[in-house]
Amino acid sequence: MTAAVDEALAAIAGATTSAELKQVRIAHTGDASVIATANAAIKSLPKDQRADAGKLVGQAKGRVFQAISARQEELAAAEEEAKLAEETVDVTAVRPRRKRGAKHPLKTLEDRIVDVFVGMGWEIAEGPEIEAEWFNFDALNFDADHPARQMQDTFYIAAPEGADGASGGARGTSSGQILRTHTSPVQVRSLLERGVPLYIACPGRVFRTDEIDATHSPVFTQVEGLAIDKGLTMAHLVGTLESFAAALFGGAPITRLRPNYFPFTEPSAEMDFRCFHCDARLGLDHDADPGCRVCGGTGWIEMGGCGMVNPAVLRSAGIDPTEYQGFAFGLGIERILMLRNGVEDMRDMVEGDVRFSQHYGTEI
Ligand code: DAH
Repeated sequence: MTAAVDEALAAIAGATTSAELKQVRIAHTGDASVIATANAAIKSLPKDQRADAGKLVGQAKGRVFQAISARQEELAAAEEEAKLAEETVDVTAVRPRRKRGAKHPLKTLEDRIVDVFVGMGWEIAEGPEIEAEWFNFDALNFDADHPARQMQDTFYIAAPEGADGASGGARGTSSGQILRTHTSPVQVRSLLERGVPLYIACPGRVFRTDEIDATHSPVFTQVEGLAIDKGLTMAHLVGTLESFAAALFGGAPITRLRPNYFPFTEPSAEMDFRCFHCDARLGLDHDADPGCRVCGGTGWIEMGGCGMVNPAVLRSAGIDPTEYQGFAFGLGIERILMLRNGVEDMRDMVEGDVRFSQHYGTEI
């Protein structure tokens, strides 16, 4: 019995995990163990020996169980400590940081421009970048052989169904698919979807097959404006542009319209704003600064095209031009950013170097 107890105590001391200790307990106190067998044998002993034998086995059992529970406590404490050590969180540890991005200044400027029109009570409208040729050209009164449709300007995506690549003509799926060359197709889409009266600003990216250089990019951004109502005139157009110029550049704006041609406006004009840079430094009643980096000494900056909406465009959208009239304009946002913020190379805007955007801070 002593040998069995010693063996059990050695095994208990040798157990290094709770699981091992459980196995030791089963081996040394379970049904097949020496102690259990001895315990079972007591009843078959002569009566006068049973008390002594019982005492002996009882003491043996006591020592073994005591050793098991002491070891169990030790192991449980060690295991708990190991677990805590493993799960420790170092609240002072410096976590790996991801570099912060920055909102692109073109987006910031686009949002600002659009906000000016929202402030005037206009709505925002958007259209797809992959556009039906019909919306981009036909509905805007471009002739089938207008030079802007040719391959040197337009990215063609899909030819008209069943056609040889010439203009689709009819509205809908029979028209070819292109990357829109301007935001003007949103005019007709919005007239069809929203009806009249309509006052909308339409920001978005446009595409032309230009090589990228300091002043050109095949992808650039425009904001289109369209106002259709009863009795709108060119005076409303000028008033709107001047409010816009004041909001964007500050000061007392002066707008100049020069005759031009666009198929979708009649009359059409090129709009110039009096140079905000010369004005700010020299005052409105002075000539422009001959060395001005913004206007090049002319005193004027070209802002984009505009005009009174051609009746043919209104008819494309099913609107009676004798009842409703309106004006439209288109602005290039890259150009405004270059002038307003002194960006000299268009490539800086498209290369995606976050340092360019970060330079503008976190304006939202
Ligand atoms: N869509 C023209 C372009 O991209 C710009 C333009 C000119 C828009 C006159 C207009 C407009 O709405 O009236 O060159």
